[in-house]
Amino acid sequence: MWYQTAVTEKCGIQYPIIQAGMAGSTTPALVAAVSEMGALGTIGAGYMTPEQLDKEIQEVKRLTSQPFAVNLFVPESYDYRDEAVNAMNRHLKPYRDALSLDTPKPGAHDKATFVRLIDVVIEHQVPVCSFTFGIPSATEMSRLQSNGVTVIGSATTVAEAQALEQAGIDMIVAQGSEAGGHRAAFQQNGLESLVGTMALVPQMADNVDVPVIAAGGIMDGRGWLASHVLGAAGIQLDTAFLTSQESGAKPVHREAILNSVETDTVVTDVLSGKAARGLQNTIIDDLEGIKHQVLPYPIQNDLTKQIRATAAKNGQAAWTHVWSGQGTRLSRDTDVKNLIDKLITEAQLQVDRFNL
Ligand SMILES: Cc1cc2nc3c(=O)[nH]c(=O)nc-3n(C[C@H](O)[C@H](O)[C@H](O)COP(=O)(O)O)c2cc1C
Repeated sequence: MWYQTAVTEKCGIQYPIIQAGMAGSTTPALVAAVSEMGALGTIGAGYMTPEQLDKEIQEVKRLTSQPFAVNLFVPESYDYRDEAVNAMNRHLKPYRDALSLDTPKPGAHDKATFVRLIDVVIEHQVPVCSFTFGIPSATEMSRLQSNGVTVIGSATTVAEAQALEQAGIDMIVAQGSEAGGHRAAFQQNGLESLVGTMALVPQMADNVDVPVIAAGGIMDGRGWLASHVLGAAGIQLDTAFLTSQESGAKPVHREAILNSVETDTVVTDVLSGKAARGLQNTIIDDLEGIKHQVLPYPIQNDLTKQIRATAAKNGQAAWTHVWSGQGTRLSRDTDVKNLIDKLITEAQLQVDRFNL
């Protein structure tokens, strides 16, 4: 069958469809439902502690015996001054006062946590581990691979993909600029390397030997088949899964995506310190006005995250992050089974239509 590719083979799955590891918005029910459908569910563990990841994996394993993945953030170096933190906290004070929040301190972000997260992946024999924001070190890569874990990297340019390939990665997600949330962009600023999926996928497929997985703006079977024709061995979707009933996205986030159009998103680094695509709103507009004061990732993220989480809980779309790709009009209010069934039917329709 046309959909049997290196991705289905290496991941031990039926369809080369990956639910992206959306940190903060995956649930064991979502991951298991995706994997039960023969696709690959992913635990978005980027912000988890090793203890949380351990629990999450146990819960997923209770719900499914099918393969699934864990997604982690490669730690980055950063630098900041306390005065800059104080200035940003002064600016954010009216939000905190309105939401009855204390002033947070920047987190520790020690590399040891990342290493322990990898230990948990290995201990539980999770078959696939994907990474974003950089390249896992040679030690981490070989620890995972020698324990039978397939390692997936994420890239926004051909040069990033080649660096991942040289480091020995098994497969690469090509993240086009349509993609929602944060993209990998580890060699240049993600505000600048905005290459769309249609241009990125064939250029990456031509220039690396490992399988390429297309991501960014893929919402239905047409997008899947188009990616396949462009040379991708699989697809990774996030916005499409965010509005599924099993997703952990807050109702305000799901509703905002379901009611938005393709021109409603912007790429901004003011909420977290790292470029991400989401629906434009009041807090983005406000912080864009003091852009020069924004701290680097992950410190800016530490300073705004309580505000965004509380606002989301309160149903205030104006003050939270509403990460979303550009394919918003194609989003569906449905469950995972129906979404994946539709993806397969729609893609097959195109295969038959074009006699592929
Ligand atoms: C809410 C949200 C959270 C995301 N979180 C992660 C993450 O934790 N790790 C990751 O590698 N990618 C993350 N992404 C990016 C996806 O991997 C993927 O590149 C992108 O969503 C694909 O585009 P689409 O949103 O148009 O499907 C996130 C995207 C969204 C919308």
